[in-house]
Amino acid sequence: MKQATSSRFPATSFCSLCLRLLLPLGLVAMALSSLVVLSVSGCLSAETTAAREPEFRLLVGVLTTPSRYERRGILRLAYALQPAPAAQVDVRFVLCDVTDAADAVLVAAEAARHGDILVLDGCSTENMNDGKTHAYLSSVPRLFAPCPYDYVMKADDDTYLRVAALADELRGKPREDVYLGRGYAVGDDPMPFMHGMGYVVSWDVARWVSANEDIVRRSGTRGHEDRLVGRWLNAGGRGRNRYNLKPRMYDINWDMDEFRPNTIAVHRLKNNRRWAAVFRHFNVTVGIKPSTAARPHN
Ligand SMILES: *[C@@H]1O[C@H](CO)[C@@H](O)[C@H](O)[C@H]1NC(C)=O
Repeated sequence: MKQATSSRFPATSFCSLCLRLLLPLGLVAMALSSLVVLSVSGCLSAETTAAREPEFRLLVGVLTTPSRYERRGILRLAYALQPAPAAQVDVRFVLCDVTDAADAVLVAAEAARHGDILVLDGCSTENMNDGKTHAYLSSVPRLFAPCPYDYVMKADDDTYLRVAALADELRGKPREDVYLGRGYAVGDDPMPFMHGMGYVVSWDVARWVSANEDIVRRSGTRGHEDRLVGRWLNAGGRGRNRYNLKPRMYDINWDMDEFRPNTIAVHRLKNNRRWAAVFRHFNVTVGIKPSTAARPHN
């Protein structure tokens, strides 16, 4: 398990170091692991500079693949250009082992620059149905043990999440035994599991997944990942505080659907045109002065 720092300050100083020495990935990973110790000594991240204590802390892991540099660039904008939520929300891009030699170098540089990349052990491929969600949920309680979050979220890289709206939903909810997202109805059960666009479990639930390998193995770690998460929790009687945010979390069906009022998450943003439409609709750039480069010529 290697994790980039959650504080911007060491990320920047580390970056200059890494660029100067052009460290190979192994060394970068070692250095990044040691930074975890630095960053968890204070639980507040650089994203949260407000003087007051956050009401709660939420870790958002965006599951993605190493080569999606452009998408991560758009997602960083999407998360950065949002009103600040009442909670501390830290966004990390979650990757499986980075095997390609070029990606290894580029991702290491990206991790050093942005400090928001989490590379998981224990998932050897980038196959969506090969245990990546399990590796993520079961790793974070160990990784962040010195400084646990209240909630952990799994999100897709084609989901636009409105963080303040989600945080408002979580505010009044219990901090334990929570499983929240867009319920996927099966038969009479409105939410045996949550849609993969994005869902939240409380920290105790992630810890339970991490500590109950037997139940998880028996219910399977291969197959449709998000369905499996529901199956584990149902088998173990966990996630009983279950909340369905349908219809405020939804797939956009490009030709037919409109964005919905009070959106929490919109999914299926598969190309830049769709991301541009999202930014336009949600007024992401309103009030931001265009840079000289973006200004039209007279
Ligand atoms: C974007 O801004 C316009 C103009 O102020 C406003 O009418 C609209 O409701 C805003 N859209 C959203 C999704 O907040």
